[in-house]
Amino acid sequence: MKRVLITGGAGFIGSHFTRLLVKEGIYTVVLDKLTYAGNLLNLKDLESYENFVFVKGDIADREKVEEIVKEYKIKAIVNFAAETHVDRSILNPEPFYETNIKGTIVLLEVAKKYGLRLLQVSTDEVYGPVLTGYADENYPLNPTSPYSSSKAAADLIALSYFKTFGVDVVITRSSNNFGPNQYPEKFIPVIILSLMEKQKIPVYGNGRQKRDWIYVRDNAIAIREVLFKGRSGEIYNIAGNKEIENIELVNKVIKIYENLTGEEWLSTLIAFVKDRPAHDIRYALSTDKIEKEIGFKPTYPFDIALSETVKWYLDNLDWINTIKTRDFEEYYRKNYGER
Ligand code: NAD
Ligand code: DAU
Repeated sequence: MKRVLITGGAGFIGSHFTRLLVKEGIYTVVLDKLTYAGNLLNLKDLESYENFVFVKGDIADREKVEEIVKEYKIKAIVNFAAETHVDRSILNPEPFYETNIKGTIVLLEVAKKYGLRLLQVSTDEVYGPVLTGYADENYPLNPTSPYSSSKAAADLIALSYFKTFGVDVVITRSSNNFGPNQYPEKFIPVIILSLMEKQKIPVYGNGRQKRDWIYVRDNAIAIREVLFKGRSGEIYNIAGNKEIENIELVNKVIKIYENLTGEEWLSTLIAFVKDRPAHDIRYALSTDKIEKEIGFKPTYPFDIALSETVKWYLDNLDWINTIKTRDFEEYYRKNYGER
């Protein structure tokens, strides 16, 4: 399994995962369509590595995927490629079904033909809102957005390829990731960029929704562990076990930002805006299975990782400027009022 195809590797989590594998000497090919969310700057430091190759392309292009598998003698595929933002899926669901379902089917077909392992990177959102307790891997699926329904569909299709054709499929479902290189449509970079630009911080509804945050480097390690040790046909939840209300998270990021910059009174930027339709009130995962079977536990302390993340955005204006040409400002204005 030392030759791996990483799809969606120019995105947020995919690029951290790629770095981990490349630096461990694993031969790594990234296939990425470079949508608005893909950014070659995320992989820039890997360009000089001989065991790293980048190919621009779509996971739904079966010919291209097969070519890569044959040319680079790929043994496993790790699929990060997806449309990933819930709000965009509410605006325009179709690309979510195209990439997240049809694209995954192409990868499954290729895995079936060439006898490859396929690790499907999925999400805790497939369980829908978890009002009390913790969702384990057998918790009922109840996706509420076009995004999460596309991910749940892909999971079920992947499992059917395992059951029917014996394809070596394994699935990870992780909680909300944060860290460097996250596209600033997701909440934590939205907060940080709003602070940097002295814009309103849009908090949906009453801000009492809860998410469980995991540092992206921890998730990358967990996915690597599942790739090499996970049992075929199995699902593994991954979480940071750091559950926090959105409004508390905003206040925490503001405090960190104020400490790092010496600025004050930034909580005046908080603005409660229209709620997201079908906004899931809480996600919460049981991680017993990955702990017991694979031996994985997150290691990055939340507050330190959050502080490192804020610092990364403050230090990486070049990266932010590549993003600023994109459409997210207008997108927020249209859906949730002025930022
Ligand atoms: P991202 O939006 O930052 O990156 C997605 C990447 O996929 C981009 O580089 C994009 O160019 C590429 N891509 C999109 N469509 C493609 C296609 N058709 N062919 C090839 N490449 C394509 O996403 P992310 O936040 O890094 O998420 C990666 C994966 O992890 C997704 O499958 C997502 O569902 C899952 N996930 C994300 C989180 C999170 O908190 N971000 C949590 C759990 C699971
Ligand atoms: O849980 C895993 C999922 O996490 C991933 O599968 C998705 O790809 C990823 O986008 C993320 O989904 P969320 O909807 O949980 O993340 P988001 O960053 O969009 O929002 C986090 C919470 O913050 C959510 O309750 C909505 C709220 N929010 C978000 C934004 C962008 C706000 O209040 N204001 C905002 O501007």
